[in-house]
Amino acid sequence: MFEFLRRGKSLDGLGFLQADMHAHWLPGIDDGAATLNDSVAIIRDLVDLGYQQLYATPHVMADLYPNSSATILAALETVREAAQNQGITVPLGTAAEYLLDEGFLQRLEQDDLLTLPGNYLLVEMSFVSAPPDVHELFFKMQMKGYRPILAHPERYRYYHTTFDQYRFLHERGALFQVNLLSLNGHYGKSVQQIAWKLVDEGLVSMFGTDAHHRAHTKELRQLLGNRRFAALSKQQDWLNHHLIK
Ligand SMILES: [Fe+2]
Repeated sequence: MFEFLRRGKSLDGLGFLQADMHAHWLPGIDDGAATLNDSVAIIRDLVDLGYQQLYATPHVMADLYPNSSATILAALETVREAAQNQGITVPLGTAAEYLLDEGFLQRLEQDDLLTLPGNYLLVEMSFVSAPPDVHELFFKMQMKGYRPILAHPERYRYYHTTFDQYRFLHERGALFQVNLLSLNGHYGKSVQQIAWKLVDEGLVSMFGTDAHHRAHTKELRQLLGNRRFAALSKQQDWLNHHLIK
């Protein structure tokens, strides 16, 4: 059930979301945790924040981080073992955060994709521009039986002045996952404003920490005192709940 508001104003933790579905704590395979110790420290912080299940979603980018499903799953086993040895009992899983590049299209055609429970597929776009065939790509994912989740839509600044593009994508089946730290202003004022606007317009289905390191998990604590954020814990049934296995 929900973590209730302390004195009606601030939250005890992020337990109302139950599962974190976007984070970079697998060690040494992207720009997140560098070492196994970093991984365990981030996981411990997320557990302390109240999460009951955690998923790692390392970047998969043809140019920068050409991770394969096999390397990701092997990294998860290493982290699971280390976490278990340190008494961490929260279930740990993995999917990936796929950049919509040419490599992605190949993986989609070969069904070589790691998904969250329920066939949810986390994807991201370049911060410079959307792929020219973005609508077709989301259509293809759905035709293949995936439920695509667009990671941090609020961070694609090229959509900020064309907000209708968000509605258009959403109407065509793209689920939106906002970063919790965007609500806190971590990525700047305009990203923060768009994040809240997406929430207020009912376009958001899930929240993720997108935690890459402990500076992120520490900053997540600051969000708990934000009254506007606290109100979200009672606002709707965020889809994060569906990822509890
Ligand atoms: Fe991410």
